[in-house]
Amino acid sequence: MYAKITGTGSYLPDHLMDNFELSEMVDTSDEWIQSRTGIKARHIAEQDTVVSMAVSAAKEAIRNAGIEPAGIDLVIVSSVSAEQILPCAACEVQAAIGADNAAAFDLNAACTGFISAYQVAAAQMKAGLIRTALVIGSECLSNLIDWTDRGTCILFGDGAGAAVITCQDSNIEVPFVLHSDGAKGAALSCSSGFGAEKSPYGNHIFMDGRAIYKFAVKQIPQLIHEILEQSGRSVEEIDLFLLHQANERIITSIAKHLQQDISKFPMNLQENGNISSASIPVLLDDLNRQGKLKPGMKLIVAGFGAGLTWGGMYLEW
Ligand code: UT7
Repeated sequence: MYAKITGTGSYLPDHLMDNFELSEMVDTSDEWIQSRTGIKARHIAEQDTVVSMAVSAAKEAIRNAGIEPAGIDLVIVSSVSAEQILPCAACEVQAAIGADNAAAFDLNAACTGFISAYQVAAAQMKAGLIRTALVIGSECLSNLIDWTDRGTCILFGDGAGAAVITCQDSNIEVPFVLHSDGAKGAALSCSSGFGAEKSPYGNHIFMDGRAIYKFAVKQIPQLIHEILEQSGRSVEEIDLFLLHQANERIITSIAKHLQQDISKFPMNLQENGNISSASIPVLLDDLNRQGKLKPGMKLIVAGFGAGLTWGGMYLEW
């Protein structure tokens, strides 16, 4: 059994906030942001919500896969930033797209969320429970940002990415790896709007940037070696490494560590900023629409973020 991505879609809000616009709001500069992160701009939602963006991305992925919504067995939405708790975003998406036969639930594993959701769907396929799943990462991080904190407001953006995953009868072995380290959770934290007085965390995203940076550049190369070992592949055999789009310097450092050319690490963070669980499916859709993903290509996809969580998988396109 192999859980193959057979369709992708994405949605980004119209308002593209560049570094110059941000530098009128906080004490920062285009030069600082670009040199420390690679980010030039990010999309910021005005009327869009986690659900509306998820629905738009989902419809595109379904069209791209050439399936009927009624053929979807499971909808998972990964998000940390939904405007509502009940009903869950996945049920709203299920209704909006007419996936009448699907089960639906949300999942929160922050920037590793799309990877976790994909692995849950693939495990259900392996268990023979489902054949087709719709996995979505949708984030409206502008809901959670303190727009006076220059350490975080320059990093994040809004958007959604979706993938249709279909069960294929195949003997391709697909290792999945997920990790967490909850003891370090305070390094990237945010309370919800409800019962916030009982939470040790503040009302906006707090991040110890240096701690997260160090964690990512240490753990992601190790994670990739773990995935390579389990898939029986060498690092040279991998065509593309699709990593969570948080910071160009993190990705460059990982490429160096693996001694692989940076051209094998496509990026779109320059225009999108960090969109947490949406970053990987939006990148997948960008590459898919540009025709850069060829049949048989070998990919390693990996994410990392709050929790702390990190995980990844080997995929063949
Ligand atoms: O998806 C979750 C994953 N998150 C991440 O991957 C984030 C990982 N961390 C990072 O990307 C980096 O740590 C940042 C980009 C957030 C920060 O870069 P840094 O090189 O670690 O900077 P820093 O926090 O150590 O700050 C260096 C200096 C400080 O000034 P002093 O104390 O040296 O005078 C900051 O106050 O830069 C200052 N600074 C800024 N200056 C201009 C911090 N933010 C800004 C800013 N503009 N936006």
